[in-house]
Amino acid sequence: MSACEQIMQEQTLIILKPDAVHRHKMGRIISRFEDKGLKLAAAKFMQIPEALARRHYAVHEGKPFFEGVVKYLSSSPVLVMVWQAEGAIQISRKLMGATFGFDAEPGTIRGDFGCSRGYNLIHGSDSPQSAAYEIGLYFKPEEIVDYSLADQNWIWGRND
Ligand code: RTP
Ligand code: MG
Repeated sequence: MSACEQIMQEQTLIILKPDAVHRHKMGRIISRFEDKGLKLAAAKFMQIPEALARRHYAVHEGKPFFEGVVKYLSSSPVLVMVWQAEGAIQISRKLMGATFGFDAEPGTIRGDFGCSRGYNLIHGSDSPQSAAYEIGLYFKPEEIVDYSLADQNWIWGRND
């Protein structure tokens, strides 16, 4: 494994939520991850069963919005993906923007594609621990694809 490959192993779980599918925004959102230079490592188009949505958002159990977000995530098909890069979790959270579009910064996914106070297009893991937990909910280890991008030395390379 090259030095470049070693530093770009962090993975994050990204879900394009039901509104992203119904509002035809999947391609434009995926483009932002590709343009930034992250590497797609796994993808699955599926409808999340309610029980799995409860496990996904288990950290929020008991909060006033818990039942609503479980219903939202499991209401219709979603695109579940693993993206990989050095710093993938923080990079993805910055690409996504604040939780809801009404106050997310322009230039972010949530800031550019929505203004709802309930639907917010995308989920992204918020820590290495959540990423490991969430990836394990949706993917078996053998479903995560290990490969090199042809241009990765230019995208992630360092001049030292
Ligand atoms: P996500 O987990 O989906 O990436 O979103 P996030 O980190 O930006 O926000 P988080 O605090 O983890 O909340 C999880 C999801 O619950 C819904 N939510 N509703 N009504 C409310 O106050 C409220 N707060 C959060 C959102 O769908 C949010 O994405
Ligand atoms: Mg969250």
